[in-house]
Amino acid sequence: MEILSFTSLLSTILILCSSESSIALDTISGTQTITENSTLISKHGKFELGFFSPGSSTNRHVGIWYKDIPGKTIVWVANRQKPINDSSGTLMINRTGHLVLLGQNTSTVVWSAKPNKPIQATLVLQLLDSGNLVLRDENSEESYLWQSFDYPGDTLLPGMKLGWDLKAGLERRLVSWKSSNDPSPGDFSWRIELSSYPDSVMWKGSDKYCRNGPWNGLRFSGQPELKPNPLFKFEFVSNKDEVYYIFYLQDGSGKTRIVVNQTSGYNRERYAWDLAIKSWKIYASVPIDNCDKYAQCGAYGNCITGESPICQCLKGFKPKGNFINWSQGCVRNKQFSCEDKHSSGFLKIRGLKLPDTTYTWANANLSLKECKVQCLSNCNCTAYTNSNITGRGSGCAMWFGDLIDIREVKDGQDLYIRVHASELGRSSEHKVKIVVIVLAVFVVVCGIFLLANYIRKVRTRKDLEDNAGTSAIMNNQNNESQTQNLEVLFFNLDKIVKATNNFSSSNKLGEGGFGPVYKGTLEDGQEIAVKRLSRSSLQGVNEFKNEVILIAKLQHRNLVKLLGCCVQGEEKMLVYEYMPNNSLDSFIFDTTKSMLLDWSKRFNIICGVARGILYLHQDSRLRIIHRDLKASNILLDNEMNPKISDFGMARTFGGDQSVGNTNRVAGTYGYMAPEYAVDGLFSVKSDVFSFGILLLEIISGKRNKGFYHQTNDFNLIGLAWKLWKEGRPLELMSPCFKDPINHPEVLHWIHIGLLCVQEHPEDRPSMSYVVAMLGSESSLPQPKQPAFSSGKVTVRADSSSSKARSSSTNEMTVTDLEPR
Ligand SMILES: *[C@@H]1O[C@H](CO)[C@@H](O)[C@H](O)[C@H]1NC(C)=O
Ligand SMILES: *[C@@H]1O[C@H](CO)[C@@H](O)[C@H](O)[C@H]1NC(C)=O
Ligand SMILES: *[C@@H]1O[C@H](CO)[C@@H](O)[C@H](O)[C@H]1NC(C)=O
Ligand SMILES: *[C@@H]1O[C@H](CO)[C@@H](O)[C@H](O)[C@H]1NC(C)=O
Ligand SMILES: *[C@@H]1O[C@H](CO)[C@@H](O)[C@H](O)[C@H]1NC(C)=O
Ligand SMILES: *[C@@H]1O[C@H](CO)[C@@H](O)[C@H](O)[C@H]1NC(C)=O
Ligand SMILES: *[C@@H]1O[C@H](CO)[C@@H](O)[C@H](O)[C@H]1NC(C)=O
Ligand SMILES: *[C@@H]1O[C@H](CO)[C@@H](O)[C@H](O)[C@H]1NC(C)=O
Ligand SMILES: *[C@@H]1O[C@H](CO)[C@@H](O)[C@H](O)[C@H]1NC(C)=O
Repeated sequence: MEILSFTSLLSTILILCSSESSIALDTISGTQTITENSTLISKHGKFELGFFSPGSSTNRHVGIWYKDIPGKTIVWVANRQKPINDSSGTLMINRTGHLVLLGQNTSTVVWSAKPNKPIQATLVLQLLDSGNLVLRDENSEESYLWQSFDYPGDTLLPGMKLGWDLKAGLERRLVSWKSSNDPSPGDFSWRIELSSYPDSVMWKGSDKYCRNGPWNGLRFSGQPELKPNPLFKFEFVSNKDEVYYIFYLQDGSGKTRIVVNQTSGYNRERYAWDLAIKSWKIYASVPIDNCDKYAQCGAYGNCITGESPICQCLKGFKPKGNFINWSQGCVRNKQFSCEDKHSSGFLKIRGLKLPDTTYTWANANLSLKECKVQCLSNCNCTAYTNSNITGRGSGCAMWFGDLIDIREVKDGQDLYIRVHASELGRSSEHKVKIVVIVLAVFVVVCGIFLLANYIRKVRTRKDLEDNAGTSAIMNNQNNESQTQNLEVLFFNLDKIVKATNNFSSSNKLGEGGFGPVYKGTLEDGQEIAVKRLSRSSLQGVNEFKNEVILIAKLQHRNLVKLLGCCVQGEEKMLVYEYMPNNSLDSFIFDTTKSMLLDWSKRFNIICGVARGILYLHQDSRLRIIHRDLKASNILLDNEMNPKISDFGMARTFGGDQSVGNTNRVAGTYGYMAPEYAVDGLFSVKSDVFSFGILLLEIISGKRNKGFYHQTNDFNLIGLAWKLWKEGRPLELMSPCFKDPINHPEVLHWIHIGLLCVQEHPEDRPSMSYVVAMLGSESSLPQPKQPAFSSGKVTVRADSSSSKARSSSTNEMTVTDLEPR
């Protein structure tokens, strides 16, 4: 018996060695290859990987298809854009662990995928029964160095995530094929849009085509047909690390997939395999009807299928244009006043798909009532509702600006829209109700304040000999701060004097743009950094407090955290968390300390900074342009995670700075985009420019000394561009780490860096694109000649504006508020 099994094992090995094609393998490694004559078949024969020709084309692509049903239903393609002409293609793992597809000439790499970690052991390539192609260490079954599920094509399979891995900066989206003969990316894509209240959106090119709406706890708000069913179960996950939609089969024998299609009128279809007739059947399609077309009825318009016309204005609004062309949407019958809180109220509209969530703010911890109070307290808030409709509903989502793309749907949601008070029901009963509710809310809120205040006083009587009140909650109408858990403390001056040893010079960390920074230790042991704003600052106390509260609302792990402030007499101070590792410039420009930053740490820093900027630009409630990104404003925590500081220069704080400050350009030369340095024009793209400089500095370890030097030694962009043009960009790399294994990544970053520093703002990518590019290996557009690289532009050097740059490399700059 034993001998028998031994021989059969032996013969299996012999067969494996002698012929790759005659036996079904699910794994290859080492020198094994997949060619025209061989395929990989998953363990239980569900999926197969090999070469195929799409439709009537004769081009060859590597793809994955179902093995256990007739017909080749392709679910994934490796070389979407670069087909192979003949039958000489070879797929293999090369010596550095990359998965490569070699063309005609085995020297041409048609497509490749790189492992996300340095490789330790022998790698194997395995096709799983889920349809996932994975690259992994031969010994670790679970952790993948690369997987095809992270790079979807036009098909979403069970177990595949659609959306974002924020840690890795990876976006997984579906993109249609150009045609059934050409798998290269077409016009239609399906993505999860990141915002405070993430949305599911189909795009056609760069325009939104159709939204499914945000996840409301049960389904996408505009997709009532997404219900529990016997075929699949589904889930939406949204936390600080990941935001994605996923579905799983209820029963292993079924088959279902979602495909984004270029040609059909229904651009996204869910197919299910019908066992009885042995073919695919369409289970659900998107868009459903004309009302699904994005913004069909314009702002504040409501699309109602079956009505004529299909567009109607929400109650309290009237058509802006004529009644035939609805694209201009609707406007308010009567504008409410921002000063008078009683001039507006909310109308409840039932059964809607929630509007576009680009400008929203959501918090799962607030109740509907708290949500209303929050919305009323911000004049820009136009609507609110529960963010989660599970059970009796919970959470809060608020909209800012125009409400776009609303329609009626079956089982739709309630939306509370803000209208002029005169639009609300006039009956006295109604008014009495409102008064009672308002009174009740008022009493409850006051009660909470008093109670909280009382408890606080009892607990920390000593700490509270403060004139400015205990916290932002006490500050005028800002009861919203309490519900947001904004722990903006107003510190007592005595406490800070004690913590910083009476601002002793040994505690001084550095001198920022607007005053010195001190290290301090609070009585409870917490380390803080205190920025003492210079007394010449003209800002009023209330204005200062309001700004502090505004900064405190910016919360992201790549932004330095404001703990509070201190206002007493002429003193104004900001208190931040203390960053033990100082700022980035003290590492990258220092020959010894830069050895501590290997490429993976640098990559982590680059990605973190990019995500922080993306948050400021797009995902925070207030769109913010930083305007002073530079290495000395990137602080590092004890795990070397980057935190952007000094976002006080941002536009929000300056009000009309885009106009008023054109003469006095604030920022740092060397990092400023040309249109900003020369014309004083700033935009999100000027931040992208500064990010590009920062990226090149992190790679090269060289400071960009300015743009007005003819010699390339001083002009980092000039040097980078020269090396790029001459085909030796890697010479830009910091000399400390030249390990060739990192070359492809570093090359990719240099490429992104050059795209960011393009002369014209419109040639620079947006921050969301930068984050996506950092997370993928896909090919990028060629950079044009970047700004300042010819040395022709001369910039007026204005010493007062550039004083923020200190000559000391150990400078510690903590967030400044721009005093005006
Ligand atoms: C595939 O098999 C055919 C016939 O067996 C042979 O002529 C051809 O060279 C093989 N191709 C490759 C790439 O091995
Ligand atoms: C395929 O053939 C065409 C013409 O014969 C050629 O132009 C093209 O470069 C070839 N493609 C590849 C990937 O080699
Ligand atoms: C493996 O392939 C990658 C991607 O094409 C390439 O950058 C790398 O140099 C290759 N490694 C070897 C040892 O050929
Ligand atoms: C392979 O490529 C080299 C250089 O690109 C070329 O000289 C050679 O003719 C090619 N060989 C084949 C078989 O196409
Ligand atoms: C929605 O609320 C339910 C019940 O409170 C909870 O179980 C669920 O996790 C919430 N969903 C989301 C997405 O927050
Ligand atoms: C797209 O739709 C067309 C027409 O309905 C259909 O023939 C084609 O197979 C679809 N493509 C995919 C990838 O499902
Ligand atoms: C509707 O109005 C918009 C904006 O005024 C205009 O661009 C569009 O062409 C008009 N559409 C039709 C069908 O008249
Ligand atoms: C909601 O409350 C939980 C528990 O109190 C807390 O951990 C979480 O950070 C809060 N979330 C938000 C968005 O405030
Ligand atoms: C409201 O919007 C305007 C214009 O977009 C902006 O200037 C203002 O700061 C916003 N106000 C608040 C409180 O967010």
